[in-house]
Amino acid sequence: MTVDNSINDKTENIFAITASSNYINQALEEAREVDKTLKILQNYGNGILLAATSMEKEDFNNSLLNKRPVFIRHISAFDAVGEINDSMTKEEIAGMIMQHIDYIEKNTKIAVQIRKARGEYYFNPIDLKGEIDKILVELGAEAEIKEPEYIISILLDETSCYIGMSSSYMNISSWSGGMIHYKKDDADISRAKFKLMEAISVFKLDLSKIHHALDLGAAPGGWTSVLLENKIAVTAVDTGDMDERLNKYKNFTYIKANASELELEENSFDLLTSDVSWNAKNTAVMVNKASRFLVDGSYAIITLKLMSDKVRRTIKEVKEIYQEVFDVIAAKQLFHNRDEITLLLRKRS
Ligand SMILES: C[S@@+](CC[C@H](N)C(=O)[O-])C[C@H]1O[C@@H](n2cnc3c(N)ncnc32)[C@H](O)[C@@H]1O
Repeated sequence: MTVDNSINDKTENIFAITASSNYINQALEEAREVDKTLKILQNYGNGILLAATSMEKEDFNNSLLNKRPVFIRHISAFDAVGEINDSMTKEEIAGMIMQHIDYIEKNTKIAVQIRKARGEYYFNPIDLKGEIDKILVELGAEAEIKEPEYIISILLDETSCYIGMSSSYMNISSWSGGMIHYKKDDADISRAKFKLMEAISVFKLDLSKIHHALDLGAAPGGWTSVLLENKIAVTAVDTGDMDERLNKYKNFTYIKANASELELEENSFDLLTSDVSWNAKNTAVMVNKASRFLVDGSYAIITLKLMSDKVRRTIKEVKEIYQEVFDVIAAKQLFHNRDEITLLLRKRS
């Protein structure tokens, strides 16, 4: 990746683009499909790129949203760059930041998201956020973290402080850097459950309409537990053992089997989930075969393991296999995905 930090061309619009650091090149390819001349000003090495486009800010942002990128989890547009130094108090920095924010509408929900891209600071970014929140409340807005209408994005890069404000949907994710955090609990059956929770949230899946799920590659049972907790009956399939704590659920069934050799009643499930640790193409063939157990129109949530270097080509080829049976509704490299992406599919009639 070539970095060109000759900034300060006033016609350029600056964005922070965030992805998993393992897939930053794929994220850059996605951004360059919108603007092939996009310039990388900084690659901070932690999954954050600072990029400059000569396109209109809204055009670049909207075109990227319309492309529904798989690897870009978050973007934030900046309107100004302020300078900070050690002699400034956090109150002064907060005041300087707010001078660059054009207009605050009363009673709007605004989240302040501060990220440290590079540099050591004598203040804690959380305290700086607290100062900005105080000013927002004085101006009649609501300082809100969850479901904000607007987001004030701050990126700290040594003495530079990038400042921007946008409608929250423009950022792709309303979580800072697209990093959705869940509370961990010792009672969690597996951390894998967070992948399914994030997929349900990002894909806006309404679980209240689902009655019976088929969970393939289910052991030890994190995904199964999420579905059971949502009052969905689950038939879990794995060659390995499920956590015994799941036995307390009356609507839990476990089949110890290879998921590609299943014999179940056709059209008897209205959700299929698969987190099978298997090659992406073999998994797709297996899921397509299992789709006969699903009612037409049902959703499937599938992790697609990325094992080769040819990541985007693998995704394209695997999607083509799924498209024999399903419509591919969405594909996303979620914050809780490691070397994989998550697909939302819908069985065609
Ligand atoms: C990443 S783990 C699943 C974790 C699970 N989603 C959870 O939340 O606890 C992958 C599972 O796929 C299972 N698996 C791999 N190939 C399989 C196959 N052909 N049939 C059934 N299970 C399989 C493995 O035994 C393993 O338990």
